[in-house]
Amino acid sequence: MPIVPATLQAYRASLLHFHADPAFTEEAHAWHADGLLIVAEGKVLAAGDYSALQATLPPGTHIVDYRGKLIVPGFIDTHLHFPQTEMIASPAPGLLPWLETYTFPTERAFEDPVHARNVAEFFLDELLRCGTTTAMVYGSVHPQSVDAFFGASEARGLRMVAGKVMMDRNCPEFLRDTAESGARESEELIRRWHKHGRSLYAITPRFVPTSTNEQMHLAGELARAYPDTYLQTHVSENEDECRWVRELHPQARSYLDVYDQYGMLRPRAMFGHCIWLDERDRARMAETSSAAAICPTSNLFLGSGLFDFERADAAKVLLSLATDVGGGTSFSMLQTMNEAYKVARLKGSYLPALRMFYLATLGAARAMQLEGTLGNFTAGTEADFIVLDKQSTPLLARRTAGCQSLEELLFAFALLGDDRAVAATYSGGQCVHVRGQG
Ligand code: GUN
Ligand code: ZN
Repeated sequence: MPIVPATLQAYRASLLHFHADPAFTEEAHAWHADGLLIVAEGKVLAAGDYSALQATLPPGTHIVDYRGKLIVPGFIDTHLHFPQTEMIASPAPGLLPWLETYTFPTERAFEDPVHARNVAEFFLDELLRCGTTTAMVYGSVHPQSVDAFFGASEARGLRMVAGKVMMDRNCPEFLRDTAESGARESEELIRRWHKHGRSLYAITPRFVPTSTNEQMHLAGELARAYPDTYLQTHVSENEDECRWVRELHPQARSYLDVYDQYGMLRPRAMFGHCIWLDERDRARMAETSSAAAICPTSNLFLGSGLFDFERADAAKVLLSLATDVGGGTSFSMLQTMNEAYKVARLKGSYLPALRMFYLATLGAARAMQLEGTLGNFTAGTEADFIVLDKQSTPLLARRTAGCQSLEELLFAFALLGDDRAVAATYSGGQCVHVRGQG
């Protein structure tokens, strides 16, 4: 007798997920026009054609009917800042003045754990509304901001990665660690949160200009001492920033090389932006399994530059898409795809919609070394998925009525979609957002 799991849920819809990167593999996706997703105890039990799978359900199993809609794995946003939620869309002529004028003063308020929890709740609401079920999140320099964030994400059962920013120079006094306090507080947070429930910790030196050599050294030591933690930072985002790093580290071969010298290039290291890299940098990222978080809405908004997809692919760098809120201008990974597509065009290359959906799901899971846990519907993966609705706006309905292919349908979602396209969001098999209900 097969053991029937106590909690079995089934969802009927079109299903799309990936088992390979469509840039390098033909037939990298699975598509079930009339599909069934079966979930047991928070994990995927099976995904396939309705006609093949419905007979495997125990008699009387309720099937949630999402026919006409599309179920895909929950989106994964690999770089954003929860303390910058309320300062999204703040005008400034470039990254460095934006940090000075808005970012640092805004992050000061996260010393207050009540404020931090309040913003974390809103931030998570917004992610789930947009269909993002996992994110790599920067806190502020205050450890209590990360406690507040994980407190809120664990209450909702979400798979989240976060870390306390480490900064001990070139920032206001009120946001400054010492090298020692930043490392000690980070280690305390690792012990408190890493692998606690679905939480994962990211060691988070903000970027080279705001860490002394001593802080970089201690962050690198932590990364070695806790090899299964994440590491997140910014690299080669903006030309003024790159010039500043050259002045601070004249002996380094490149900006990325500074991180390399401190042992920070490794699996589970996520580098935000990666615009002004050279070939040796890309090769080094690929050989160390370090990953890039591509942030097109932020890069266009701050005028930072255009990510080079073609060169990154030629070097086989692990890639993912990210919003970089509040430098980014939207929480929506669909809107992030919209801008990524245009960035690629401006660089003379072409990003198919299938590739963009891959990058926002399995590609990100691979970049985070989480394939098998997240990112597709392989049996045993965590049941984080979203329901996309092509009828969600009059324009999307009208455009998709004439779609001739899956590529056209996904392209319409990417170019015209936003939070309204997400009818429902599920995390660990639980419904955590229904459009129109909060
Ligand atoms: N570089 C250092 N800090 C930041 C930040 O908060 N946002 C962005 N976009 N770049 C940074
Ligand atoms: Zn950032």
